[in-house]
Amino acid sequence: MKRGEGPAMHTMQKSLFINGEWVKAGQYTELRSPYSGEALAEIPAANEEETKQAIAAAYAAKAIMAKMPAHRRAAILESLVSLLRERSEEAATIIAQEAAKPIAVARGEVARTIETYKFAAEEAKRIHGETLPLDAAPGGEGRLAYTLREPIGVIGAITPFNFPMNLVAHKVGPAIAAGNTIVLKPASQTPLSAFFIAELLAEAGLPAGALNVVTGSGRVVGDLIVTDERVNMVTFTGSPGVGIGIRNRAGLKRTTLELGSNSAVIIDKGVELEPLIARCITGAFSFQGQVCISLQRVYAHAEVYDAFVEKFVAAAKALRLGSPLDETTDISALISPGDVQRTLDWIDEARRAGATVAAGGRAEGNILQPTVILDAGPSLKVSCQEVFAPIVLVNRVNSVEEAIERVNDSRFGLQAGIYTENVHTALDAAEKLHVGGVLINDIPTFRVDHMPYGGVKESGTGREGIKYAIEEMTELKLVIWNRRQ
Ligand code: SIN
Repeated sequence: MKRGEGPAMHTMQKSLFINGEWVKAGQYTELRSPYSGEALAEIPAANEEETKQAIAAAYAAKAIMAKMPAHRRAAILESLVSLLRERSEEAATIIAQEAAKPIAVARGEVARTIETYKFAAEEAKRIHGETLPLDAAPGGEGRLAYTLREPIGVIGAITPFNFPMNLVAHKVGPAIAAGNTIVLKPASQTPLSAFFIAELLAEAGLPAGALNVVTGSGRVVGDLIVTDERVNMVTFTGSPGVGIGIRNRAGLKRTTLELGSNSAVIIDKGVELEPLIARCITGAFSFQGQVCISLQRVYAHAEVYDAFVEKFVAAAKALRLGSPLDETTDISALISPGDVQRTLDWIDEARRAGATVAAGGRAEGNILQPTVILDAGPSLKVSCQEVFAPIVLVNRVNSVEEAIERVNDSRFGLQAGIYTENVHTALDAAEKLHVGGVLINDIPTFRVDHMPYGGVKESGTGREGIKYAIEEMTELKLVIWNRRQ
């Protein structure tokens, strides 16, 4: 056992969660720690039949959830918040073990998950339509019109490994708030967080069938969720390739897709560097860079470039590598050995093309050292693809205009940041950056859980952030009363 690894908490065989029951599956796969390789649990690999049972349970519970009053839906979510608070350290340990997320960062994720469900409980009470002045059109006189927001029905939620609790919350929270039912397929590497939340929601009083958790392969479980006619919406966070595949196969189902990015920050001349170095380190290396809005590209004005590089490289080299359960660890293992190899290959490609690896660039076991690359061309994989690893590029630019062009020269458009002292430059950047969210004087990695979150281009479609997710998860119904016979 490696230092700080501690005893495994979940070496048991887990079950599928279907119709409020824990159901043994026909087949199992072993879940191992990405850091130590130690076995953590045996996870059900659901087959078609088991997945269909989960969909049927969600379909049957639709009417119960749709009829449940808002105060009751809010009360279930509030109860979940209390239970999660009581068991927050256990929750953080589960995340740290299955995702190799450093424990301090995992605690941060649990705190955010609590916030997310709190927002969901609040928003459950604020779902409303509007009245419409139909007499604005000739022929619309004498009519009273209003809209209602009705639950969409069964939601298929497919979630990623990188925030195994909070990105589940971003789908399960608004779905319950809006009176829907859910079939959840968590990422194969991080199912324990999802099972943990299912356990707490059952304790919180969620009716049987309202949440079903089905683990297994994308080809079996994911495919059925996307194609089964009883599922009304698919909400997915993950890679663009899988997201586009889902969209192509989902037919008329509504889809919300939160996909990848190669997020950037622009640093203008004249800004004070000291405070933003620590922010950029957090943005680039938090959870080993495995965050959709991780800082991957820095465009620093020529006047501040050298000073930025010197301070940033020194700070990157000071980060501590180690076990996710060690309180002092900043950087732990990547999610899989395949990702370590992929990122090493991409770094090598950059080296061969003449880029300078100013920090890191090598692996220590399954941990990739925090890596800073200078002068990487725009067509290199580390530049134009999503690295999802602790790799950041720093490039020199001669103006903010040039930087904006280079930020926009991307298949992705999730969030972008700009540090500047000039209000006109900031406003100009906010207008010209082609992304879902612009952060003035902050990194693109900033997110709190009620803000609208989503991207343009290959970063996806639709928005999360509880209120916005509820809009996606409800149907707008129009009611018109004709006062004339
Ligand atoms: C993501 O990686 O998509 C989510 C980032 C966050 O919630 O901070």
